[in-house]
Amino acid sequence: MERTLDGKTGLVLGVANKRSIAWACARSLAGAGMRLALTYQGERMEKGVRELAAELPDALVLPCDVTRSGEMDAACAAIRAGFGGLDAFVHGVAFARREELGGAFHDTTWEGYAMAQEVSAYSLVAMARRVRPLMEGRAGAIVTLTYIGGERVVPNYNVMGVAKAALEASVRYLANDLGPVGIRVNAISAGPIRTLSSSGVSGFTDILDRVVAHAPLRRNITADEVGDTCLFLCGPASRGITGSVLYVDAGYHIMGV
Ligand SMILES: NC(=O)c1ccc[n+]([C@@H]2O[C@H](COP(=O)([O-])OP(=O)(O)OC[C@H]3O[C@@H](n4cnc5c(N)ncnc54)[C@H](O)[C@@H]3O)[C@@H](O)[C@H]2O)c1
Repeated sequence: MERTLDGKTGLVLGVANKRSIAWACARSLAGAGMRLALTYQGERMEKGVRELAAELPDALVLPCDVTRSGEMDAACAAIRAGFGGLDAFVHGVAFARREELGGAFHDTTWEGYAMAQEVSAYSLVAMARRVRPLMEGRAGAIVTLTYIGGERVVPNYNVMGVAKAALEASVRYLANDLGPVGIRVNAISAGPIRTLSSSGVSGFTDILDRVVAHAPLRRNITADEVGDTCLFLCGPASRGITGSVLYVDAGYHIMGV
């Protein structure tokens, strides 16, 4: 791979294990020469994330639960101390309670709705505010991960679909806020991939089968394909793109039936 990001630094939130899409993004960015900080959510995740980070050259590993403002502040302070600044921020974080990812959407509780919004959408806003000063004077790039369930109805995706709609709108508002200081903000709408999070969605295997049957490419996508699009969106080749949602879904989103 060409080392187009040599000397650049990035922060990747959302690595839980080797199947995480955020881990594929980290591998693509590191492969192009970017030095990375990875975060983990809670002590339970720390060991696994440290083991993965050891595969990258000179990575920082930091705790960051996005429901804890002190941890978000501390992670950004550690990046300031360790890297001096930041060129890229990848947001690969989402959560909804399993019981809210099935059945009728109107049964969503306020607590479940608020939690999905806090972790899956507001955390992008909260982190953008914090990484902005770290990107001062650089051509910064922020990338988040979304899903077509934020635009159309995907059975059982429910509260997470509404959170993704908020996330995609946040991408547009952040792109408008941060464009004047040279920071671009984009989302990748990924096709379904088997991960820890997606295993919580009822009927997920049916969704994978549907893509193979109907997507123009007649197959599902890989996390590496998302990682390479993240590399594109974090690098100079995408310098004219902001506020956009790019689909990495084997073309599924263009189909009417
Ligand atoms: N897997 C798919 O089919 C698919 C498709 C499109 C978009 N996405 C999106 O990709 C992103 C990554 O998901 P994934 O599928 O790789 O699953 P994953 O479970 O590997 O990643 C989700 C991450 O969110 C983190 N997280 C949850 N709550 C958190 C909190 N309070 N603080 C900090 N981190 C927290 C988890 O620790 C985990 O690392 C999510 O935004 C997801 O919605 C996934």
